[in-house]
Amino acid sequence: MKSDIQQVTLNAERLLVAEREHYLRLHPRSIKLSKSASQHFLYGVPMHWMNDWGTPVPLFVQQAQGVHFTCADGIVYTDFCFGDTGAMFGHSPEPVAKAIATQASRGFTVMLPSTLAPNVGEALTEQFGLPYWQLATTATDANRFVLRWARAVTGRKKLLVFDGCYHGTIDDAMVDMTIGDETMVDVGDGKTTTRASLLGQAHDLSLYTVAVPFNDLAAVERELATGEYACLLTEPALTNCGMVLPEDRFIKGLRALTTKYGSLLILDETHTISTARGGWAKANKITPDFLVVGKPIAGGLPAAAYGFSDNMATRMKAAKDSAPPGHSGIGTTLSGNMMTLAAMHATLTEVATGGAYSHMLALAGLLEQQLRTSIKTYRLPWGITRLGARLELQFCEKSPTNAQQARDAQNDTIEGAIHLYLLNRGVLLTPFHNMMLVCPTTSREDLKKLIQTFNACSKELTHD
Ligand SMILES: Cc1ncc(COP(=O)(O)O)c(C=O)c1O
Repeated sequence: MKSDIQQVTLNAERLLVAEREHYLRLHPRSIKLSKSASQHFLYGVPMHWMNDWGTPVPLFVQQAQGVHFTCADGIVYTDFCFGDTGAMFGHSPEPVAKAIATQASRGFTVMLPSTLAPNVGEALTEQFGLPYWQLATTATDANRFVLRWARAVTGRKKLLVFDGCYHGTIDDAMVDMTIGDETMVDVGDGKTTTRASLLGQAHDLSLYTVAVPFNDLAAVERELATGEYACLLTEPALTNCGMVLPEDRFIKGLRALTTKYGSLLILDETHTISTARGGWAKANKITPDFLVVGKPIAGGLPAAAYGFSDNMATRMKAAKDSAPPGHSGIGTTLSGNMMTLAAMHATLTEVATGGAYSHMLALAGLLEQQLRTSIKTYRLPWGITRLGARLELQFCEKSPTNAQQARDAQNDTIEGAIHLYLLNRGVLLTPFHNMMLVCPTTSREDLKKLIQTFNACSKELTHD
């Protein structure tokens, strides 16, 4: 018989209280830093969302190296969050640190391409397969720029996305799909609304963006058939609402439908770069019109890139050449700077190697097995969804097939208790869901620490 989830939730509530007190006892220095940072930073942190981790006060970090980081109170942690993918290849990988150190005395930014530019273009093509590239500073910006290009080359305005999507803070994709009438059985009939949590949004985003459920080709076709869509923007698997994998042939179906109706297919591989070297699309032999990569591609320094086909390059040039001179709305001054190019080159050629991925995938496979065994041992009705080096613990037995199912499986109390219990024992998971990444230097010892702590936590959660 499975463990009673009401009892687990009650235990989680109690555990949370105890772990919050435990955390405060462990972190006098972080408490002090939080107080002094609060004098000049809103919520006491450089970015307001850094205050949203489930800790009573933010954890201040002293340094990070490889799989580990040390907090202000001198406690060493094993990282499975890796800056939510930004440090997926480990903290401060040596070749990147060296490249940065070398570049540091040779200039940071000049608003001109550095002599390394051709090598970086070549490395992007070698790794991800597409022949042409442009850079941006964040994946958010890369998505924003690609959307602009897509509208410019197709002459269409609308964007199709999936319910539960997140592509950074690009406004156009900040929509939700709501089912107005609870008796409605076909989730494809949901209504698109501007995401309620957005601050300061003046525009009704649903005018030009529509969200449909992931893994629903019929809903996609119904929209694309209107001929109004410039593009469909999606991750190959949804990774920001828990994790939802594509069903067999779903992405292939998207490729066929976008081509059939003259819309462009944009694959945002910012997170699915965990799948294999070169990302999900390359591993699954799908060629999108645009491919976006960000976060770890310069070892964790702000950098992103978008790739496109030969044909798309021709269409982009035609759109640019026929526009009046002036601002294109695409570009930021510091993107593609000398320092970023150096870091990106070192990451792509020396860090994100075939050997690194072999290790990450093998260990992530092992971690999946070990987590499944733990879940079984404690008779928890939970599951693991994995995409290469990325794993998600979900509070449902079968992996969800759309965002609504993923949301239905969430339980903030249990999640909060697990995260804080693990953190108080030196193991960091990704906040806001239960994601774990394995990096090129994660060891079996690191997995053992996670599993032992997770088992101890599960014991606390399941006792009568
Ligand atoms: C799939 C995806 N695309 C884009 C982004 C935006 O990345 P950034 O915050 O670095 O702009 C994110 C951020 O989490 C993401 O998950």
